[in-house]
Amino acid sequence: MREFRFTTAGESHGKGLVAIVEGVVAGLPLEAEYVNKELKRRQAGYGRGTRMEIENDEAEIISGVRYGLTIGSPIALFIPNRDWQNWQEIMSVAPVEKEAEPITHPRPGHADLAGVTKYNLKDIRPIMERASARETAARVAAGAIAKRFLQQFGIVIHSHTLAVGEHRLEGVRTIDWGQVEVSLLRCADAELEREMMAAIDKARADGDTLGGVFELIAIGVPVGLGSHVGWERRLDGRIAQAIMSINAVKGVEIGSGFALARLSGSQAHDIIEPNPSLATAENEATRQSLPWRHASNRAGGIEGGMSNGEEIVIRAAVKPIATLANPLPSIDLRSGEMAVAHCERSDVCVVPAAGVIGEAMLAIVLTDACLDKFGGDNLKETLTNYHNYLNRILLGENELSNN
Ligand SMILES: Cc1cc2nc3c(=O)[nH]c(=O)nc-3n(C[C@H](O)[C@H](O)[C@H](O)COP(=O)(O)O)c2cc1C
Repeated sequence: MREFRFTTAGESHGKGLVAIVEGVVAGLPLEAEYVNKELKRRQAGYGRGTRMEIENDEAEIISGVRYGLTIGSPIALFIPNRDWQNWQEIMSVAPVEKEAEPITHPRPGHADLAGVTKYNLKDIRPIMERASARETAARVAAGAIAKRFLQQFGIVIHSHTLAVGEHRLEGVRTIDWGQVEVSLLRCADAELEREMMAAIDKARADGDTLGGVFELIAIGVPVGLGSHVGWERRLDGRIAQAIMSINAVKGVEIGSGFALARLSGSQAHDIIEPNPSLATAENEATRQSLPWRHASNRAGGIEGGMSNGEEIVIRAAVKPIATLANPLPSIDLRSGEMAVAHCERSDVCVVPAAGVIGEAMLAIVLTDACLDKFGGDNLKETLTNYHNYLNRILLGENELSNN
């Protein structure tokens, strides 16, 4: 069983979304404003549809927090859907006299066809409502709690847009995270961003959609999260599942990922060397550094299913949105005849938002792995265990160096 667990409930046009988060240590400072800032980041991004103009996501913390501190009990969050007032009939919980006209033309690339078949429904609407990435607002709310937890350990997670359609950030570069936060596409390169925006405009004008790639970078992750001893404990596997679970994500890479397959071993692996900053002085700054480091980070911060002390680097491929203003051919499930796919208000490109959701999912996995490694029911206890562990590594008090 996972240490940090969460579940979500809610339909896209229902009354609202719910997240219930369990396993949060007591004593963690938490305010709704912090969660809401993350929710706002998810709503942004050039290429979103008009829905995001209606919604102004704000979470209410219903339980698990007292006087601004978590108390160790499950944290329930409620995010109302502002659009609900326009959908009270269509999404009514109670039976209604005249039900809405059923949707029967499944969209290629969406959950419609498999969902309506599996759940034996006469209308695609219930499938659309839950397969919608509106659900990810609840994930981002849960992820905000995880991010706040990770901050206590000095762990920070960033995301940026690597590609939209064929427009891709090439080469290795230092990312200006301040620039990414103000960029409409969460893109680190202003000129490339203009090209991406033009591509999105064209897709919108053509009634089409675009996918892309986002990258996640987790800084400050201690060595030794996850484990090599069992498949379900491997950090890479846990991260891949969490990121792949994001709507429309179709590929996950860790570090150089697929590119490693083309390299020889001597080209692929990151050389281990003494950390030169340790050789200098006995000051506090050097005590923050590990006695060794990797000369490169093609492994993306994970070796043998464990974090290796370097930055964790994850890339995810996002497929183009399946709802097209210029819809693809499909069938009418009632008659079996050819038809055009259902179309309703939709996003054109969601890569920047998917990156923010990726941050939340990565934060959730790393929080779970931290709790797994350091334990504790109260933040102070967890932090004490963490510092004891760090001291053992940083001061060289381990079995190897005592031999
Ligand atoms: C932030 C975000 C917003 C999305 N918005 C839409 C949308 O407006 N219309 C749509 O058809 N799909 C949208 N999607 C994608 C669908 O939720 C997703 O394609 C669908 O669940 C089927 O994809 P799957 O095969 O990955 O599950 C969005 C995805 C994300 C991450």
